[in-house]
Amino acid sequence: MLTAEERRRDFPSLEGRAYLNSAAEGIPPVAVGDALAQYFRDKQLGMDGRKPHAAQWDAAKALTAAFYGLTADEIGICSCSSEAYNLAAMALRLMDGDEVVVNDLDFPAGATPWLQPACPATAKVWRNRSGALRVEDLVPLLGPNTRLVTVSLVSFFNGFRISLPEVVAAVRKHSPALLAVDVTQALGRVPLDLAGADLIVSSTHKWILASHGGGLVGVPKARTAEWTVPAGGWFNLEDAFGPKRFDAVVSKPGAASFTVGMPNYPAVYAIRAGLEYIRGVGVANIDRHARPLVLHCLSEVKKLPVELLTPNEPDHVAGILAFRHPRAEELHARLHAANVHVMSHAGRLRVAIHGYNTSDDVERLLGELKAAL
Ligand SMILES: Cc1ncc(COP(=O)(O)O)c(C=O)c1O
Repeated sequence: MLTAEERRRDFPSLEGRAYLNSAAEGIPPVAVGDALAQYFRDKQLGMDGRKPHAAQWDAAKALTAAFYGLTADEIGICSCSSEAYNLAAMALRLMDGDEVVVNDLDFPAGATPWLQPACPATAKVWRNRSGALRVEDLVPLLGPNTRLVTVSLVSFFNGFRISLPEVVAAVRKHSPALLAVDVTQALGRVPLDLAGADLIVSSTHKWILASHGGGLVGVPKARTAEWTVPAGGWFNLEDAFGPKRFDAVVSKPGAASFTVGMPNYPAVYAIRAGLEYIRGVGVANIDRHARPLVLHCLSEVKKLPVELLTPNEPDHVAGILAFRHPRAEELHARLHAANVHVMSHAGRLRVAIHGYNTSDDVERLLGELKAAL
């Protein structure tokens, strides 16, 4: 893992700070800043810059593919997770009578396209029990009309990590549905095995330490037909400038149909650099270092007079834990004043622990909390 010197070199802004908020915003290493500066230099070449832009694009897709367990052809890059899900909704062409299963631990990006009044499908909500999504509660929601189950591998809300193999098995056994998995709160933090996922989506500004403006989409080859987006654009189209362009519009198949226009190249440079950095450190090493910190923090927070929202089940924990307290805002302000950074929203405090965090960060958090409660 990172030595103190490497940490200082790669993340100078962490000096003196206990930054425990990577589930909201990851801290980019200096290498990501260098990549953004490189983008600027390449952009100054004008159209000649498109060649280096394309090289970064290819590298970002290849890296994403390796993390997703797919090939580069099975990766598309759009601008954010929300865009990816809206495009996915277009591809599905849902009809009256179709059903979609969402869940109440999910981030809105993956859940709301199917809740819009214009969506003809009926959305069913897989509800958590004491902060956990139990597969036995999913099964009764599945049936012959289920077209899609959408879920996050790790919940943004309380950090609950589903058992993907169990969810895949239940979906396959009880429905013909596709399974979409949002890995935003997992990618770069925990090793992934995404076998069985029919669509994979991630944002880019959190645990992979890149910039805003990316949506990493994985479409396994076998699902190409289901996830070909019928959107207007040009980057996503076959022969967009050909002589027959006003006769018929044909989308590129699968992952390639998720980039409708000119790619967000600044983000692409940052994604390339962020993923390369994570690969260099090693996700397994990150998890080996950070997981004991999460489990320690969880067991200590459990002793405090707060309402723990994260089930105390090590198999279902990744990098996030959350709790509620009536004075959450005040606690947050106090922590922030002490240079301890966590997320505060709607009475809940969320703690996120990444590879660059140290046991000192966690002790500072616990010390401040104990003093304040
Ligand atoms: C699980 C999850 N998905 C997606 C997002 C973000 O979506 P978008 O990239 O559309 O901003 C977040 C957090 O911001 C998240 O926690």
